[in-house]
Amino acid sequence: MNRTLLIAAGGVVALVLVTGYFAVSASQEQPKVSAEDANSEVAAVAALKEAAADLENGEAVYGYWCAACHDPGPGHPGTQSLEIKYGGEIPAALEERSDLAPETTVYFVRNGYALMPFFRKTEIDDDDLRDLAAYLARKE
Ligand code: HEC
Repeated sequence: MNRTLLIAAGGVVALVLVTGYFAVSASQEQPKVSAEDANSEVAAVAALKEAAADLENGEAVYGYWCAACHDPGPGHPGTQSLEIKYGGEIPAALEERSDLAPETTVYFVRNGYALMPFFRKTEIDDDDLRDLAAYLARKE
């Protein structure tokens, strides 16, 4: 496949994932997303596609901001909550997942959910978020 086709295919996959996510989340109670948040998500998603991600930096960002809640095992509220949500069908720890689209990570990081706070650009800027999302989306 040439590069243009790959990018086009990636765009279609991203669109399907994002549409699917919003279809699912529409049935749950979600905080309203303001136009400003939506724009910042668009910018972050655009940034995702612009530059190659630095996975090592992504891992560092994860360790600094996310590990306390999303590492494996007890004492991690995100992991415990996702264990209940998915009933063991997929791994509860984010780093062990292979289904986490970058757009999903961007959405949760910028908007937060339940116990999870949202993160400002002064905490995790768009470049760090791109690296973090790519790190969590990597397949090993
Ligand atoms: C204070 C604890 C806490 C921190 C810090 C935190 N999260 Fe969360 N996270 C949660 C909780 C709780 C949920 C909700 C789980 C649920 O839906 O039951 C969640 C959900 C998520 C989800 C949704 C997963 C899914 O399949 O529904 C993603 C993605 C996510 N977090 C990513 C992150 C990332 C990336 C970071 C670091 C920037 C982070 N979280 C930091 C607690 C946290």
